Amino acid sequence: MSLNSSSVIGVIGAGAMGSGIAQVAATAGHEVVLFDTATAQLQKAQTSLQSTLNKLVEKGKLTADNAAAIAGRITYTDQLSAFSSCNLIIEAIVENIDIKRKVFAEVEQLVSADTILASNTSSLSITSIAAACKKPERFLGIHFFNPAPLMPLVEVIPGVATDTQVFADARALVDAWGKSTVACKDTPGFIVNRVARSYYGESIRMYEEGMAGFATIDWAMKTFGGFKMGPFELMDFIGNDVNYKVTETVWEQFFYEQRFKPSLTQKRLFEANMFGRKSGRGYYDYREGAVQPQPLQDEALGRKMLMRVLAMLINEAADTLYLGVASREDLDTAMTKGVNYPKGLLKWADEIGIQAIVEQLQTLFEEYGEDRYRPCVLLKRMAAAEKTFY
Ligand code: NAI
Repeated sequence: MSLNSSSVIGVIGAGAMGSGIAQVAATAGHEVVLFDTATAQLQKAQTSLQSTLNKLVEKGKLTADNAAAIAGRITYTDQLSAFSSCNLIIEAIVENIDIKRKVFAEVEQLVSADTILASNTSSLSITSIAAACKKPERFLGIHFFNPAPLMPLVEVIPGVATDTQVFADARALVDAWGKSTVACKDTPGFIVNRVARSYYGESIRMYEEGMAGFATIDWAMKTFGGFKMGPFELMDFIGNDVNYKVTETVWEQFFYEQRFKPSLTQKRLFEANMFGRKSGRGYYDYREGAVQPQPLQDEALGRKMLMRVLAMLINEAADTLYLGVASREDLDTAMTKGVNYPKGLLKWADEIGIQAIVEQLQTLFEEYGEDRYRPCVLLKRMAAAEKTFY
């Protein structure tokens, strides 16, 4: 059976992501079964959803009746057998491949033959999790962003064995939930967590080289690039523990590709428990009374740093397109809707000029002699032929 509005949705894991996904599906009118092994976590998810719904009612975004109906559609359970009636099950448990594989092998035995199984993993191979199932063709990645009810982007990822109809049905359902879906090959970091790496990595690199301090780099990216948050503010917001781990995982899974190499600066912050906002200190000091560094408002330096970061981001977006990981439109949608970039990177490349981007990369490549700066062959060919992405 293909998925529709009366499909029952199962969610494994009632943490930050699982409870958000349950809210999205219940709001779209589905009966939802939310499972967790920790009953305290189920309780917490239920209380927190109720408080979110109350706030939406107070703000006039939901009627009290609607809020009650949404809450009433979610069943909280610590019994896996409750999944037997589900048509689609989305897993959002701890980011550990062995545990995910084990849970899916168990779940698959309880569900009907046409139940679609999905993982919300940020960094693990969909193909590898699917291989733990007897029917890997029913398995795919459905990757939401945090917080799931608010972030519009969802990356939909077929594994090597995924049936094309399973992929199409799952994507259509998530589209019907009002999300912007993008299709992405099963590759490390999918689209957003791969392409965004240079925003952090190249900014840290410029800091390490002594080009500027955190505040100046953040100021430059916001003032001249129109980014909502500077890279250091954003890493502190995401958490240096989470952001460092994603970088390390993407780098390892790309067979230690130099473009993704993590930085010692961030690793040390991680080791020092300086995670950012949540721990009180990161690149910035969030403790009460702390004096914040002021940016050095040097426009020429700011624009130079922006061009270096943009060239790296565009190089990655171009490589992702060139290797068939995602389409031009999906790449641009992913970066604007998943991480709020002011423009899609390929559109941005056209505006700046592909020739100028290639020259910037070539200059860095020749000066440093490092692989991380090599221009993507697609950009080189496009520059030579004076082509644009759009
Ligand atoms: P979390 O730590 O908030 O929640 C995980 C939940 O899974 C907990 O409630 C835990 O009790 C439960 N759990 C652990 N093992 C279980 C098992 N064997 N069976 C059932 N429940 C189990 O984690 P979070 O942040 O919600 O992440 C979940 C998944 O979503 C991970 O794969 C993560 O990579 C991915 N993700 C996380 C994002 C984020 O920003 N937090 C964004 C997008 C994806």
